[in-house]
Amino acid sequence: MEQLKWFQKAVVYQIYPRSFKDSNNDGIGDLKGIISRLDYLKFLGVDVLWLSPVYASPNFDLGYDISDYRSINPEYGTMKEMEELISKAKKRGIRIVMDLVINHTSHEHEWFKQSMDRNSPYRDYYYWVEKSDLAKPDKVPNNWDSVFGGSVWEEHDGAYYLHLFSKQQPDLNFHNRKVIEEVKDIIEFWLKKGISGFRCDVINVISKESLENGKNKIALKGSEHYDTTEGCHRILKELRRDVLDKYDAFTIGEPMLANIETIKSLTDAKNHELDMAFSFEHLEVDNFLAKWFPIKFKPKKMMKVINRQQQEIEWNALCFENHDQPRIISRFGDPEKYYLESGKLFALLQLTLRGTPYIFQGQEIGMLNAPFNKISDFKDVELATLFQAAKKLHFSDKYILNALQKRGRENGRTPMQWTSEGGFSEREVEPWIMMNPNTEKINVENNLKDPDSIFSFYQKMIALRKNSPILLEGTFEPILVSKNVYAYKRVLDGKELVVILNISNQDTKVKLDRVGGKVLASTYNRLVYENGKNVLRPYEGLILENDF
Ligand code: GLC
Ligand code: CA
Repeated sequence: MEQLKWFQKAVVYQIYPRSFKDSNNDGIGDLKGIISRLDYLKFLGVDVLWLSPVYASPNFDLGYDISDYRSINPEYGTMKEMEELISKAKKRGIRIVMDLVINHTSHEHEWFKQSMDRNSPYRDYYYWVEKSDLAKPDKVPNNWDSVFGGSVWEEHDGAYYLHLFSKQQPDLNFHNRKVIEEVKDIIEFWLKKGISGFRCDVINVISKESLENGKNKIALKGSEHYDTTEGCHRILKELRRDVLDKYDAFTIGEPMLANIETIKSLTDAKNHELDMAFSFEHLEVDNFLAKWFPIKFKPKKMMKVINRQQQEIEWNALCFENHDQPRIISRFGDPEKYYLESGKLFALLQLTLRGTPYIFQGQEIGMLNAPFNKISDFKDVELATLFQAAKKLHFSDKYILNALQKRGRENGRTPMQWTSEGGFSEREVEPWIMMNPNTEKINVENNLKDPDSIFSFYQKMIALRKNSPILLEGTFEPILVSKNVYAYKRVLDGKELVVILNISNQDTKVKLDRVGGKVLASTYNRLVYENGKNVLRPYEGLILENDF
């Protein structure tokens, strides 16, 4: 029998600190707010908290642009409070994982400020290209596209610097040994404080192989020169060997543009790079080409991707929501007619797959997309990308608004809904981003009171998973993918659990070979399942102890 590591048995909860809980009534979530809710998180049953960045930052990308890796953004609190969070969490058996954003810094980071001076030793921490070294000085050094729209090059004082994201996020130059050493120091600084690992932001693009023009047309132009390069593999091995391996820590990668092959190459246990990585392919099934071209969700497409992820990737990171994604019930479920049912169905799916589940704040109480209803309600830096596509392709305002409502990252960033009045701050203050008015009904307080709530279901499923060696260690075997029905089993030592899901708003008849037995969990409180005679109700899902 394989021996699972602690982080493979864990359930992780992602906190987006700005929107979790505000303790000092300035409308911005903070560390003290998180500390005040540790008991809630313990009650839910999660073992690890991953915090989106809490480092000093001018917030052009809300913390993903770091100006000092060793200090806490004063909006969120102090280093003392961070230490308090780590130790109070530890007392409850909860570990803390931080976000490691090393592909780029903020343009306000001291290194970047120094690097603006040609003669500074920091010049080479970034990718600077002198205009005078270019055959055509008035043209940017190459044709690469930035993720957030436009060219990756920004001009400053007779030179250009490279930024894969916004111009306030200059890319670090990992060909410079000093940069790697700096990163090691930062990692060690935080591990010594007692954190248990890192979620590594866009980690597969840190090493640029060359700065030649890009040829690809569909994905980002230029990406073939930096997507999961040999250099990246080498750096990851080095970080692991020289620093991470000395601690009881783990790393989870957030690769960009990643397909299953990339994930496999980064997480293959033999290579000693990352412990696991997010694959977002199963979420991208409602896009045509890129996320700004939303199309109708077809469950079958998603099920097929999940089957591949489960069978091909050694250890999956199971994710259905995060701070870059819309809410799952709004996206793939039925928030109007089958709100509870579809919310529970996705909980059942996520918590019965093989891998480490990542629950995003608010997912456990069934939060929905926010009712932003005009283009100016959206503020995120990534809007630039959409507007650029919009200009080229002559999208109408109506199209843009619809794409934003369906795909905007701010859908996942509205404040956590604690009470019917919101309860995000202690007093009535305007939060930094709109509180979803449906907090009147959808909130923690109501969820906790109701044994049939989405929260109660997550709690039950987390406990079930923790106590089930089959769900933790068992292999995954697909059984059925049809238009709306998904069935698979988890197998360990000859024992089987079968999961059957009806991902639709229709009653659906299910007939499976060699499946039957006791109902272990159900989104409808079903007690009996008899194969061949069963009609699964809309968004019904269940787990059977197969005794066939
Ligand atoms: C990751 C983060 C996203 C951020 C980007 C740049 O994709 O999840 O929020 O904008 O990296 O750091
Ligand atoms: Ca605050």
